[in-house]
Amino acid sequence: MIERIGRLRREAEAAVEAAPDSAALEAARVRFLGRRAELPNLLRGVAELAPAQRGPVGRAANEARRALEARIEARGAELQAGELDRRLARDRVDVTLPGDPLRPVGRLHLLTVTRREIEDVFLGLGFRIAEGPEAELVHYNFDALNHAPTHPARLRSDSFYLDDEIVLRTHTSPMQVRAMEAQPPPLYVIVPGRVFRRDSDATHTPQFHQVEGLAIDQDVTLADLKGTLEAFARAIFGPQREIRLRPHFFPFTEPSVEVDVSCFNCVRGLTADGTRCPLCKGTAWIEILGAGMVHPNVLAGIGSGAYDPERVQGFAFGMGIERIAMLRHAVPDLRLLLEGDVRFSEQFG
Ligand code: DAH
Repeated sequence: MIERIGRLRREAEAAVEAAPDSAALEAARVRFLGRRAELPNLLRGVAELAPAQRGPVGRAANEARRALEARIEARGAELQAGELDRRLARDRVDVTLPGDPLRPVGRLHLLTVTRREIEDVFLGLGFRIAEGPEAELVHYNFDALNHAPTHPARLRSDSFYLDDEIVLRTHTSPMQVRAMEAQPPPLYVIVPGRVFRRDSDATHTPQFHQVEGLAIDQDVTLADLKGTLEAFARAIFGPQREIRLRPHFFPFTEPSVEVDVSCFNCVRGLTADGTRCPLCKGTAWIEILGAGMVHPNVLAGIGSGAYDPERVQGFAFGMGIERIAMLRHAVPDLRLLLEGDVRFSEQFG
């Protein structure tokens, strides 16, 4: 028995000395002194030995354990010092060197990412992309879009006028008219861009972004509008989404609708823990855009005469990119999109 203890001790000491790092040392400790190791077991069994053996065996085992513990501690201190030295050497920074490696180039802004995602969906559906002027003629922004002379958006308190005839466009819809003037039907186009309104509060900024859509052909119907927007909603908000159309009013469409997408944050207005869904306010639907069938007055106003409302018809829609991005990524505050804080931007793109 005493001999066995001696062998164990030598074996253990060799393992401790050979341990190349703290992890290996800990493994050796568990192997020779852990709860299931032989030496501690031996110690626990001393009481059952013949009386004459208890003293010598107990003493030898105890001594072996103490010696081993001391070795482990010493070796541990040695290893730790070495590891610290190595880590310090590895982490050494030469502060006189130029910034290198270069900081990786930036990310796309969430609004850019979202705009491109929206564009991709409609490009896939056969639409092309057009852009128009941000300083727009009052004619295109309002008159050609069938706005009554008394329409409130015309007020100087609501819109930014550069002079009597030019306004910072209040929506991307004027490009509907410009696109129709530029080419005969069939026409399938989307128009991303900046728009401007005299609005400024927690959920409105004087400048924001929209994507307009326009589809004109011989037999485009409201059903096509619904199918198109359903495909869009599913591509952006998930394949399970449904949409619904609610009657609304816009001057340049008839009939006009507001379009809601089924909430992707809850089931019938309740979140997983049974509370009212904050995203859809418990209604299970979220408004995402305005749309409708292009008003005959708008079609008839196209100078070329190519858009005779007796021969062609189609749908239009317009959505806010900020709104889509915020819904999609649960952005809690519109201002985060404008502040330029890289900690925000880095989470996207
Ligand atoms: N121009 C509208 C707005 O700014 C949005 C809109 C509604 C665009 C209906 C459309 C449409 O093309 O058909 O609020």
